[in-house]
Amino acid sequence: MGFRQYKFGAAGVGLMLGFSMCITLFGPSNDFRSGVSTWVGLDKQLSLGRVIGFSYEDPTVSGKGKPVTVILDKDPKTGATIDPPQRFYVYTAGTKFSPGVNHTELLGPGVEELSLQKGKIDQAEVSRGAVFTVSKGEFNGEEIDYIENVTATRGWDPQGTLTAAGDENSRYVGKGKTIYISEGCWWCHTLLPEQTQDWQIFGAPPFLGDFNGEMPTAFGSDRKAPDLLHVAARNSSREWMEMHFFNPRLVQPNSIMPRYDYLWGKVDADGNAIDFKKWRKEYTAYLHGESAYAPDVPEPAADSEVRALVDWILTSLK
Ligand code: HEC
Repeated sequence: MGFRQYKFGAAGVGLMLGFSMCITLFGPSNDFRSGVSTWVGLDKQLSLGRVIGFSYEDPTVSGKGKPVTVILDKDPKTGATIDPPQRFYVYTAGTKFSPGVNHTELLGPGVEELSLQKGKIDQAEVSRGAVFTVSKGEFNGEEIDYIENVTATRGWDPQGTLTAAGDENSRYVGKGKTIYISEGCWWCHTLLPEQTQDWQIFGAPPFLGDFNGEMPTAFGSDRKAPDLLHVAARNSSREWMEMHFFNPRLVQPNSIMPRYDYLWGKVDADGNAIDFKKWRKEYTAYLHGESAYAPDVPEPAADSEVRALVDWILTSLK
């Protein structure tokens, strides 16, 4: 009698396993390539470059070999006004292109055709470098975004574009996202508001086409801290971000987030050595009520890791 019951149970478990395996194998699934790249997807891959995270080109995951995003209100070649200001992605000679430029089928139907025919992305050469932008075009009566190789279509040269932009119009977005990955921010944060009440707090979930050509994606796994996909829409203050990274307790007294003051490196924006010990002493005095104000957070140098991290947050996470 007992034996018969075991048999029944075993068959039941087998049936359930078989059924769930059938769902995995035969149920409908999404192929990333079937999605049409959105503006977000194109902006993301062009600002991040070939690969973020670990690769043999950047074994220490420090953000080497990444493109620079510049925001221009003037054509660096003709001086004509660009209104509203537009993002351009500068790949200096030797900087590897983003996946969609090398493998155009990743861009999705329509975006691929326009990027090749009007955008001339097949004429871009890594050895010479190139400047890209996202332009609007029409495909089968629908308006879509595509990649334009501005070096081929308007004759912009990468180095000249960087010089015209200057540091104040440059955003080190690709390097910044790499720092997000190497610092392990994703152990606590997610980049994926879910299809629930989440929206009301963290904003709309992403579309499939937002991920075309992003390698790898960094959704995060287990959320212990606020979702960051649209954090810059809630808070676009560079000063707040810098204080929060130097020591989160400066702006959120009970925060459990670690401090990231080491991302400033050794010197500040004026090239003066940062005295972390002195800062700490003054901060402790402030905590004990011996001084009215917390010490000022040093101005980050242009090539510091924190500058890139904040650039990425304020430019891409809107
Ligand atoms: C130990 C978990 C933990 C880690 C690791 C961590 N954070 Fe946080 N973070 C938090 C918590 C908790 C908060 C909410 C409290 C606060 O604002 O400090 C937060 C808040 C933030 C906010 C503000 C969010 C909002 O909604 O206003 C940003 C931006 C942020 N973190 C970025 C980062 C980045 C970038 C890294 C990696 C360099 C990082 N965090 C690493 C826990 C973490």
